[in-house]
Amino acid sequence: MRSSWILSQLAALSCLAQASPLLPFGEQPYDSSVNHSEPVRGVNIGGWLVLEPYITPSLFERFRLSEDSDEGIPVDEYHFCAKLGLEAAEAVLKTHWDTFYMETDFKQIRAMGFNLVRIPVGYWAFSRLANDPYVSGVQEKYLDLAIGWAKKHNLKVWIDLHGAAGSQNGFDNSGLRDQINFLNYDENVEVTLRSIKYLLAKYSGEQFADTVTGIELLNEPLGPAIDMGKLKSAYLQPSYDYLRSTLQNNDQTIVIQDAFQPPHYWDSFINTSSANIIIDHHYYQVFSQGDLARGTPERVSVACGWGQSTLNEFHPSVAGEFSAALTDCAQWLNGVGIGSRYDGSFWKNGQGSYFIGTCEGDADIAEWSETRKQDTRRYLEAQIDSFERTGGWIIWCYKTESSIEWSTQLLAKYGMFPQPITSRQYLPQCS
Ligand SMILES: *[C@@H]1O[C@H](CO)[C@@H](O)[C@H](O)[C@H]1NC(C)=O
Ligand SMILES: *[C@@H]1O[C@H](CO)[C@@H](O)[C@H](O)[C@H]1NC(C)=O
Repeated sequence: MRSSWILSQLAALSCLAQASPLLPFGEQPYDSSVNHSEPVRGVNIGGWLVLEPYITPSLFERFRLSEDSDEGIPVDEYHFCAKLGLEAAEAVLKTHWDTFYMETDFKQIRAMGFNLVRIPVGYWAFSRLANDPYVSGVQEKYLDLAIGWAKKHNLKVWIDLHGAAGSQNGFDNSGLRDQINFLNYDENVEVTLRSIKYLLAKYSGEQFADTVTGIELLNEPLGPAIDMGKLKSAYLQPSYDYLRSTLQNNDQTIVIQDAFQPPHYWDSFINTSSANIIIDHHYYQVFSQGDLARGTPERVSVACGWGQSTLNEFHPSVAGEFSAALTDCAQWLNGVGIGSRYDGSFWKNGQGSYFIGTCEGDADIAEWSETRKQDTRRYLEAQIDSFERTGGWIIWCYKTESSIEWSTQLLAKYGMFPQPITSRQYLPQCS
């Protein structure tokens, strides 16, 4: 029933849509409130319309059965909804959507000097598989509210499809952890295409044109674990063609996440001069033992190399996710029940880790050493400088319930995120 409603909405939208000239990236209609020679300076609205246990642990703690283990705690939004049942899940989620982000946040984000927000949303917000436990059809109202706040406060928006049916990466932030079945069943591709087409039709329309300046087809497909040829032929290309060839408002910028592929991989994908594609590269140095063991000078030099490596790619690029984190200490960052590599508590699929340092006091700024604060600021500045040589950057993420490293709000409060946004405490580190 829901899917036929979506289809009729789609038909209505594409009929009503009106033609507008094709404006490549960087040549949007003039808007005096936005400095078009600025790079993208954005922040991710993480943990809002797609749950992540580490961003809002309080939503998940209600299921705790034991002090000694994470037994009973759902590992992702799929299992969160399955455990609560649709009605209760909808009530809890509505409260979360009403309170975790509000207009005051967007006002503050603009006041901090950002010019864009990237908003993750799951396919299930718009259409579901027959047996999906997810709440659906409600998130759209909040997405529209957020776009309205952005417009009012002079922020641009990228809408980012963060979860595909069956999961494109097995991460909890895709909605469904520990399986990568997106491309393995036709119905997964069909339902995900239905959602992205709905997003493309609605948010490329005239009503949103001055605010929604990019739609990201799919966040972080796990390239090495999936059929990249099929990802392109069964999902990315049809989505792109639907926008450019079927819709009348067809000039939206398409954002393609790099799928963990090396620089220049996407040079051969839709490489016409009018492609209007931005490649979104994500960068972290906390998800392997080798990354975590680095000292700050080495970490900074890796960060400087990131911007450099994409300068001559065919498509313009933005670092759509990166963070200040020097550790993986935030509770559940690696997933419910998994632990941290940094302090040796990590355990997943028979893989452990070795101790680098303690995670105690990670969520308490009073426990942070001056060195840790300085290293964090230095690493952040290096990344921002590196990415400003490209199309810009979008930090992950604006707020968390308790983690400091992953909260731009707290990093700014404690002097680790540059304010004003262009100020620097360290000499240019990427020359
Ligand atoms: C626009 O941004 C550029 C690059 O950051 C800067 O040099 C210039 O001063 C800015 N212009 C205005 C009017 O703020
Ligand atoms: C464009 O893509 C084709 C393959 O689709 C490739 O052969 C060609 O080298 C690419 N052009 C550039 C400039 O990368």
